[in-house]
Amino acid sequence: SRTRRTLVTGAVGIAVLVAPAVAVGVPGGGPRFVAGASGAGDPYFPYSGNGGYDVQSYDLDLTYTPPAAAPAPLTGQLDGVATIRLEATQDLARFNLDLRGLDASRVTIDGKTAKEIAPPADGTEVDGRKFWQVQEDADREWELVIQPRPKIKAGRTVTVVVHYGGPTTRPTDIEGVLYGWVTTRDGAMVVNEPDGAMTWYPVSDHPTDKAAYRFEITVPEGKVAVANGLPAREPRTEDGWTTWWWDAPDQQASYLSTASVGDYDLRRTETASGLPIIDAVDDALTPGNLAVTNASLALQPEMIEFLEMFGPYPFNSFGSIVDDDTVGYALETQTRPVYSRVARESTVMHELAHQWFGNAVSPFRWADIWLNEGWATYATWIWAEDQGDGTAQEAFDEVMAIPADDPFWTTVVADPGPFGLFLGPIYDRGAATLFALRQKIGAAAFLEGAQQWVVRYSDGTASTADFQTLMEEVSGQDLEQFFDVWVRTGEKPTTW
Ligand code: ARG
Ligand code: ZN
Repeated sequence: SRTRRTLVTGAVGIAVLVAPAVAVGVPGGGPRFVAGASGAGDPYFPYSGNGGYDVQSYDLDLTYTPPAAAPAPLTGQLDGVATIRLEATQDLARFNLDLRGLDASRVTIDGKTAKEIAPPADGTEVDGRKFWQVQEDADREWELVIQPRPKIKAGRTVTVVVHYGGPTTRPTDIEGVLYGWVTTRDGAMVVNEPDGAMTWYPVSDHPTDKAAYRFEITVPEGKVAVANGLPAREPRTEDGWTTWWWDAPDQQASYLSTASVGDYDLRRTETASGLPIIDAVDDALTPGNLAVTNASLALQPEMIEFLEMFGPYPFNSFGSIVDDDTVGYALETQTRPVYSRVARESTVMHELAHQWFGNAVSPFRWADIWLNEGWATYATWIWAEDQGDGTAQEAFDEVMAIPADDPFWTTVVADPGPFGLFLGPIYDRGAATLFALRQKIGAAAFLEGAQQWVVRYSDGTASTADFQTLMEEVSGQDLEQFFDVWVRTGEKPTTW
């Protein structure tokens, strides 16, 4: 599902990169069937997401064989059937899904085999069907182009079924950081930010197209598969394979989907108000890491209650997946963050805060990432203060103690570039921005703004400009200069 707004590409020259809607319809009268755009219009990731339709739901039926025991190479096998309900938002002659490193063998639309799966110019025959493969540009290669017969009229909702699969290895993002479906020694840890969902299912891989998710994951008996949301039914074992069902009905951005597999200890409890908490903890953590992890996870109910100052917890469940050291970072996957090696208290608070800031309200473009990381970091400051573990003021002062000539201050946090999404300043200057904003407009207006942010933009996306507008509304102040010095310049703020 996407919010009614349209992505504005701006004068960044990206029109050159992204194929504009190409008319292939009859000139003069009649429906004008065109190709859906190959990207959602995000300048940082021009091929992420797609145009011309709005996904309602993904049903992912996955079968995964983890790597054979060491010392075999870390290659697993993933086979999937993705059932995607989507609504055409224009008369569609063809449209794209993002899919990287796996091969689609068959595509149907409402039960009919999609005939030529290629635009005419760059078509390549694969398996008797045509796929668009542009060798010199990896991003463009990750586009599965589907040509429906009959064409799809605007406003119609169709069911697209893609059969696909292949060996899984260890994909990396543009910075060379492991992400997507990352094979581990005992399964897979699945963390997609920003555009790694396409490494394990065909998807419109941009936060502006949120959808509901259902998972049916079949793994060798003894393995546990954990995804977003709640178990839809009890796992079932047959012929040495166990199937796990998960249901995540709330609107979810693709980068927040997970379907991690491993030798997990699965635990289920609930909060005082009845919210289910489901944790999956790698059974091979070191005793020290397990003790730290258990202590942090025990705090989850209290942390949820604390953060409900910003509004009710937004989804149907919460909990954690604590896997091995393979990826080395945590991700706020919706309802069920993934941790690597250990879940520390401040990290659990950070990923929990993302459920409101990042997950319920997601970045409109990836340039807006500071709104995710700034809020999550700020939440750890106020939680620590609440726990008597240093004040938010002290955390702010620590950031402001960084000398003005330090490269830290050169990052423009509201436009860090695609290689700068996870730089320190996105987190720390982001949090300092929020702290300074609270000082400037007062605690009451700040809290009101934070709550309104979640109310207004839940299930959708919002930008830095939206944030400024809302904070100006609740405070009655002109905040142009404030946001200029804090997030739109690469210098240390002095007055604001
Ligand atoms: N959003 C995650 C966090 O702050 C970090 C994800 C890092 N991802 C990456 N591809 N480098 O917890
Ligand atoms: Zn974060």
